[in-house]
This record gives sequence, structure tokens and C-alpha cells, in this order.
Amino acid sequence: EKVVLAYSGGLDTSVILKWLDLKGYDVVAYVADLGQRDDFKAIEEKAYKSGAKEFYVVDLKDYFVRDFVFTAIKFNAMYEGRYLMGTSLARPVIAKGMVDIARKTGAKYIAHGATGKGNDQVRFELSAAALYPELKAIVPWRDPEFFNVIKGRKEAMDFAREHGIPVKATADKPWSSDENLMHISFEAGILEDPSMRPPKDMFELTIDPVDAPNEPEQIEIEFEKGAPVKVNGKAYSPAELLKVVNALGSKHGIGRVDMVESRYVGMKSRGVYETPGATILMAAHRDLEGLTLDGSLINLKDTLMPRFSHLVYAGYWFTHEMECLRTFLEKTQEFVTGKVRLELYKGNVYYIGRESEYSLYDKLVVSMDDDLGAYNQTDATGFIKLHALPIKAHAKRLAKFGKN
Ligand code: ARG
Ligand code: SIN
Repeated sequence: EKVVLAYSGGLDTSVILKWLDLKGYDVVAYVADLGQRDDFKAIEEKAYKSGAKEFYVVDLKDYFVRDFVFTAIKFNAMYEGRYLMGTSLARPVIAKGMVDIARKTGAKYIAHGATGKGNDQVRFELSAAALYPELKAIVPWRDPEFFNVIKGRKEAMDFAREHGIPVKATADKPWSSDENLMHISFEAGILEDPSMRPPKDMFELTIDPVDAPNEPEQIEIEFEKGAPVKVNGKAYSPAELLKVVNALGSKHGIGRVDMVESRYVGMKSRGVYETPGATILMAAHRDLEGLTLDGSLINLKDTLMPRFSHLVYAGYWFTHEMECLRTFLEKTQEFVTGKVRLELYKGNVYYIGRESEYSLYDKLVVSMDDDLGAYNQTDATGFIKLHALPIKAHAKRLAKFGKN
């Protein structure tokens, strides 16, 4: 029987690969290229050394950035107020690639190396359920036969050596990380004490803001229907554009987040993130919406944003509910076209100007200088009177019962 394994080339997934091989499965090792800085040739070699029968690396960068990262940016999406969900958004993409390989190779099983304590297992398996309901998931980290033997790092190393899986000589970092074109996340190990500051040298994608340039840098982002299309006047593909903005954010120390978050499986977990480019793009996007969206629609979007973020975080990308939300979202972005100028400076993004041919801003209406008939200030009297009506009714009721 064939099984498609979401393979990273790390120790854990290599041990899982070998374990599936020993159980008699024909393992199809699959790597999703989401822009992580990895050597795919070396990973392929390691997969075959670990017992893979077939190996695929699939470039999903533009699909990831266009359909997932840019969709989250259009929603100004943040989980629990801060997390831009770089890992959450990547999981359905990886699952889509995995399902495609399963169909192509005729595999009826998929496997992954996510633990039984995290969000990722849920995201992989709910996505696969939507895309190929008949597939069965094999999850070694939830199988006592596996985790009673591979209890920790030492056992994994011993198992690897015993079975000819190459093991890195360099000592492992005291945390675990997950990287793609949108972000890098750090969790576990020494980070499990939420009161302890991460070491300065843990960060990989951004310079420490205190060491960032002393001169601010001006940039301009251009959007078309809510999607970023140009940086400083130059057009790029989605993945290329994110790379360019990542470099700018990286240089100025933008997009670091350190937080305690609520995992979908119920526990609190401490996560540290670096999301340089998407942080800048989301700031710019939000600003352009201020110019081009009606206030009531901004309010509706802001109300639905936590719902969208929950669906992303918990792994419900390929669902009817998400499809409905995304249809609404795209409609809201119809006029979110224009340019935003920003200044990047020591970890901060400053807004310095915005323009759009679809701007709702009317200088004549807002201007205090003159009364040219665009806005009649005496109209405001009745406007406030009627809005005060229910407020007064409640105040009078309170007074009647001596509760004011
Ligand atoms: N806590 C983040 C999330 O749930 C990051 C998870 C990181 N995953 C990983 N396999 N290292 O989205
Ligand atoms: C894992 O437990 O596999 C990583 C963390 C997570 O999925 O939340």
C-alpha cells in the first residue's frame, strides 16, 4: 500500500518515513516548496536513504501567496489580535499538494509528522477530509506503537543511526521552527517558559530593531482589488512581490511577535514569529481601505475578521463557510485599488500618504473653511436629536428608579 508522507527532511519526518517503510508501506515522500530556505536536492537524497520509494517536491509558492497570504491580507486577518497565521495558512496548501500526489500515485493513505498536541494535525486532516474524503491518515505521533519507542530526541537519533538515516552533526536548536515565504515560527523547548525572553540570535528573518538602520526608508505599495501588485512602481508575481517586501521588512526589523496563544486543541502555547513582508502589506492594505471603503462596510469586515481568522487557525480553509466568507471578501475589495506610501523605521511602519481613483474622501465635504453647500452643518442638529432619543429614554428610566 502506498502512503504519501508530508516530508520536511528533518529528523522526525525521516524517522517516520523509515518507520512506515518498516511497517510495509511504499512511502511516497512529498515536499511542499512554500519558500522555506531548504536544499531540496539534499532532502531528496535523505528521503531515499530513509526508505522512500518515490519523491516529489512541488512548488506551491504562488498558489500559497496569491490564494492564502493575500486573502488573509485582504481581511486584515490576525489571530488573537497579533498572529498573522503564517503556519496556519500554509497547512491547507501542503494538504492540497499531498492530496494531488495521492491521486496521481494512487495512494489511499497520507501521513504527517505533526504531534497529537498541536493545531497542525487538525489542519492537515480537515483539509484532506474536504479534498479527498476517502483518504486515511496515518499519524505516528498519535500511535502508541510509535511514540512508546520514539520517546524523545535521543531515541529518534538512535533509531536514525540504526537504520542508516543521516543525522546532522551540529547540535539541534533548543526550540522548533517552521518556515515559509510568509514567516518563520518558533515554539517549544526553551520558549515554553513564557516569561523568558528569546535569545537575540534565535531570530532569522529580521534584524533586531535596535540594530536596524538609523535612517527611515520610504516605500510605495500599489494594490489592485485588495491584492498588492507593485512595490515602488515595479510589478511582481505574488511570490516575488512578497520576497521583495520581506527584504525591506527584514532590513528594518519589522514583523516580530511574541505571544501566548490559544491552540484549537485547548491548550495555551507560546509562539514567536517573524513576518516581515506580510506585516508591511497588511498595514498598507488596511490604510487603503480607510480611503476606499464605506465606514459601515469596514465595520462589517472588522466584525467578520475574527471568524475568518478562527477558520484559518483551526484548519477550516476548504469548507463551505470559508467559501462564503471569501466570496463576500472579494466583493468588498472591488474598489480597494490604489497606492499607499509608508516609512519603515526600526521595527515600525509609518503611514505617510495614500491615493486612489476610487477614493471616497471628499475634501469639499470634510473641509471646515467654507460652506459651499456640500455639507450643511445645521443638518447635524436633527441627526443628533434622533440618535439621542433611545439614549434619553434609557436615562429617564434609570432616573425613575433612582439608578442614575
Ligand atoms: N502556533 C502556530 C500555529 O499554530 C505555529 C505552529 C508551528 N508549527 C510547527 N510545526 N512548528 O499556527
Ligand atoms: C505540532 O505539535 O505538531 C506543532 C505545533 C502545532 O501544530 O500547533
